[in-house]
Amino acid sequence: MILAIETSCDDTCAAVLDGPRMLSNVISSQADHELFGGVVPEVASRRHLELATPVIDAALAGARASLDEVEAVAVTAGPGLIGALLIGVTTAKAIAAPRRLPLIPIDHLQGHVAANFLEPEPLEPPFLCLLASGGHTLLAGVRDHEGHDVLGQTLDDAAGEAFDKVARMLGLGFPGGPALQRLAEEGDPEAFEMPVAMTRDPGLDFSFSGLKTALSYRCRELGPEGVAERRADLAAGFQAAAVGQLTAKLERAVDRGEWPAVALGGGVAANGPLREAMVGICERRGLRLKLVPPALCTDNAAMIGSAARFAPRIPYPDYLSYDAFATGEAADGPKTSGISTVSARRPSL
Ligand code: KG4
Ligand code: ZN
Repeated sequence: MILAIETSCDDTCAAVLDGPRMLSNVISSQADHELFGGVVPEVASRRHLELATPVIDAALAGARASLDEVEAVAVTAGPGLIGALLIGVTTAKAIAAPRRLPLIPIDHLQGHVAANFLEPEPLEPPFLCLLASGGHTLLAGVRDHEGHDVLGQTLDDAAGEAFDKVARMLGLGFPGGPALQRLAEEGDPEAFEMPVAMTRDPGLDFSFSGLKTALSYRCRELGPEGVAERRADLAAGFQAAAVGQLTAKLERAVDRGEWPAVALGGGVAANGPLREAMVGICERRGLRLKLVPPALCTDNAAMIGSAARFAPRIPYPDYLSYDAFATGEAADGPKTSGISTVSARRPSL
């Protein structure tokens, strides 16, 4: 059994896994965002400190397991908010060390990929995975269970970040993705012309800042009353353009490689129209499509436990000096494996 902990951003998460089987998956989302209009790193860290123990207790209780049955502790080591990550890493060490258990540090993005390895119907590599979250947007070539190659990524904002910023312009709360999707259902995606960026660019990179800026110009032209009147159309136009870019790049990557299957990961993978578009693309090409449930797309610890099954274990006491890292790649370059060494990364903040 693996106990997994994830605290890279604002959700305090713990899960217990028995091989590819998820026995529990507890997520405590922090609710202070409305107050601040987003995630405040220091506030998020303090909340992780308060929530870590009750969330881990709840995960063990949900799995009907005790700490005595846990064979290894997995934890997100980065990338993410450094203060938030440190709470998770320190908590994991504090649980593992007295029991002489190994520690398994995990790359957060590899965690999103590994959500696809969970039962039921685990997806076997090779496959192409579109990862789109609040902090990252990339196309991952997944050739084995241990890591992924970055085939293309955003040059500026992440897709989720763009959803959140546009949602804010339209007066919606944080995180903006789910609320924007709901509002867009009432709008006409063609009412406003939106730039679908990077589609003429032959590469596999993404860009979302131009779309976000286009939205802010429309809002300025319309004025507060106009925005209030047309916000559903603005949301629908933005969402269609964002999904259009994500799927255009994914289709291009599919055409370039011999990928028998396609998967999604990250919070934006919970987006309904994106999921529907993927179904159409994969049906037309005869590709297998794996869509994990939305609760496994957004941040959770089950995905970290899933990645940990294939990642190196650091024996006690070698991990006592192990540090979290805020940004950057794993030591072995663009192939972001599950961070294999204790020297891996230093915080860059
Ligand atoms: O993976 P995640 O939970 O956290 C990060 O690692 O960033 O992703 C959170 C992001 C947020 O930007 C949120 O607005 C977006 O995922 N998101 C969505 C939807 N649900 C969450 N974006 C579009 N549509 C959704 N339904
Ligand atoms: Zn994430």
